[in-house]
Amino acid sequence: MSRAAVEPIAPVDAQAIRTALRSTLGASRTLPPEAYLSEEVLAWERSHFFEGSWVCLGRAEELSGPGVVREWHGWAFADASGYALPFEEHVGNLDELVAPWEPERLFVAGKHEYVVNANWKTITENYHECYHCPSIHPALCKVTPVDSGENFPHNGCWVGGNMELMDFAETMSFTGRGGGMPIRGLDEKQRREVYYYGLFPNLLISLHPDYVMTHRMDPLTPGKTWVECSWLFPPEVTELADFDPSYASEFWDVTNREDWAACESVQRGLASRGARQGPFALERGRGSPVHGHRRPRLPGGAHLPSAAGQRLRRGGLLTRGQRAVLLRGGGARTICRRPGKGAEAGPQAPSVPP
Ligand SMILES: [Fe+2]
Repeated sequence: MSRAAVEPIAPVDAQAIRTALRSTLGASRTLPPEAYLSEEVLAWERSHFFEGSWVCLGRAEELSGPGVVREWHGWAFADASGYALPFEEHVGNLDELVAPWEPERLFVAGKHEYVVNANWKTITENYHECYHCPSIHPALCKVTPVDSGENFPHNGCWVGGNMELMDFAETMSFTGRGGGMPIRGLDEKQRREVYYYGLFPNLLISLHPDYVMTHRMDPLTPGKTWVECSWLFPPEVTELADFDPSYASEFWDVTNREDWAACESVQRGLASRGARQGPFALERGRGSPVHGHRRPRLPGGAHLPSAAGQRLRRGGLLTRGQRAVLLRGGGARTICRRPGKGAEAGPQAPSVPP
């Protein structure tokens, strides 16, 4: 791909993007519906994001043949354009946050594939907030406090943060009990929390005390996305006579399907004539990166119902800097901040009221 051959300006209304880029919560709005519906937008995203950046191809041991240009903690990444940031800058400080789990030594014990009738950004945004959790994830809410967690400062092409486990819970499962073995080398805090990171553009990494889950996405059409969900465990579990990864995979399969139904509902709403750019939640200063977090609050503190939260939170995949690309054009080199610049002052994931 030649960068010069790619239209530098996203085919999205420029004023709508400017509105989405406003730095003041309450004044800013979500991305416009066409960003989730247009074939032209998806073609632009493929050129700039999926071919112009480091895209995860899966686990390195599952791939064969030439063309894989970088392996990171067992995952294989490729930059089809040759113009992407150096890989170290792409992942930035996510490397030090993921490294304690030693994902390179883990093995895939379970894998599910899904085709979701929703835009890839809709799915990613859903991953990065959990206003919806109290109303659609009863099992998840039993093992994780819905008001825990914060977003972490970042200097790579990722967003995310932590959430806590309930006092009784060892991990994310229906019972809170684990069926494997703790991942070696984690500190006390890491053994009591779950970490959710979205590495732009297509890999979601969820770090648990005893396993790692990933969602890897490939957009099929603007309204349809292939998702591969994998569960990775440490090799020590093979020494357990009764090891069965389903305590993790079945829990998350149920949760995944609850999310897919929600995402598909949001996607149908985006395609309606009444779809408009909506405001982000006003609560600011506290993070709530993924599952189990706060519902949005109205001024004065009243909680909105989840359905209203769905309307409030549209447009949250991209950081403010990344969304700026949609306005000014450019490729991966312009969507990521370089290491050493520190965290953005604003929210890392605009879908989340920090
Ligand atoms: Fe969810």
